[in-house]
Amino acid sequence: MSVAKISKQQERTVKLERRLRDEVVIVTGASSGIGAETAREFARHGAQVVLAARRVSELQAQVAAITSIGQRAIAIPTDLRESEQVKRLVAQTREQFGRVDVLVNNAGIGSLRSFVSLNEEEIEEMLDVNLRGALLATHAVLPGMIERRHGAIISVASLAGIVPISPMYSATKFGLRGFALSLRREVVKKGIAVSVVSPGYIRTSMSAGSRFPMPGPEVVARTIVDLTVRPRREVIVPVYYNPLVGIAQAFPSLIDFAMSRVRF
Ligand SMILES: NC(=O)c1ccc[n+]([C@@H]2O[C@H](COP(=O)([O-])OP(=O)(O)OC[C@H]3O[C@@H](n4cnc5c(N)ncnc54)[C@H](OP(=O)(O)O)[C@@H]3O)[C@@H](O)[C@H]2O)c1
Repeated sequence: MSVAKISKQQERTVKLERRLRDEVVIVTGASSGIGAETAREFARHGAQVVLAARRVSELQAQVAAITSIGQRAIAIPTDLRESEQVKRLVAQTREQFGRVDVLVNNAGIGSLRSFVSLNEEEIEEMLDVNLRGALLATHAVLPGMIERRHGAIISVASLAGIVPISPMYSATKFGLRGFALSLRREVVKKGIAVSVVSPGYIRTSMSAGSRFPMPGPEVVARTIVDLTVRPRREVIVPVYYNPLVGIAQAFPSLIDFAMSRVRF
């Protein structure tokens, strides 16, 4: 590795440690994939991390990995479909750590099945996890952040929230982006940074059925953590999707044509 690259990495580490030391971070969907990697990346830079999801043993394994490097982390089993559990997640975090400094709305479920084949329960589940859960978690953390004029809310949407490719999944991710991008304007003067991360294909259990070559969740985790130092409106990750998104937005009929050849 070149000297320039090493010093750039050191500079990043110094900035992140200064920004994140003892900050209290909630990561939803932290039992696997992008969320688990994000929780570890925050902890590596000195943050105290609260990991939320449903699978208790996976959460505990992630907590053990973090505490083994000497950082503080706890698991709060949470089903984001349940309003009371979302409120309890934030209340318990405050009880244990006194405040919430960063919320990462990462939990999500996906499906490329045709809209007409989904039943009502499946429609509600995707809305509840991908959108309503994130809204409720944000609603619960905001008053404390506004009072302290300090906080960051980072939501993991998707390229499918910019380019419509799957009716149900895109509905939730367009919704999440619309929420976050306008919330940003509402709270920016109150000292709170709101950002959206829109990943393309990333190697996790969600993309297990795909044969495309794709990067691991570290690339998204690093982007999320970096946003706490340099907040931005929205980041597409990996960056090589940027031109594709530009083309898809400029020529939607191209995507119509491509999608018309996909069999659901
Ligand atoms: N992988 C990709 O290619 C890709 C691309 C674009 C966007 N994304 C987005 O990235 C985010 C993370 O996904 P991933 O790829 O890391 O997949 P993943 O490994 O399947 O992670 C999904 C996480 O969401 C949690 N979750 C699901 N239902 C939940 C519920 N009812 N309550 C609480 N947590 C719940 C899961 O935990 P439990 O099952 O333990 O509850 C898990 O921790 C999602 O929002 C996804 O839409 C992924």
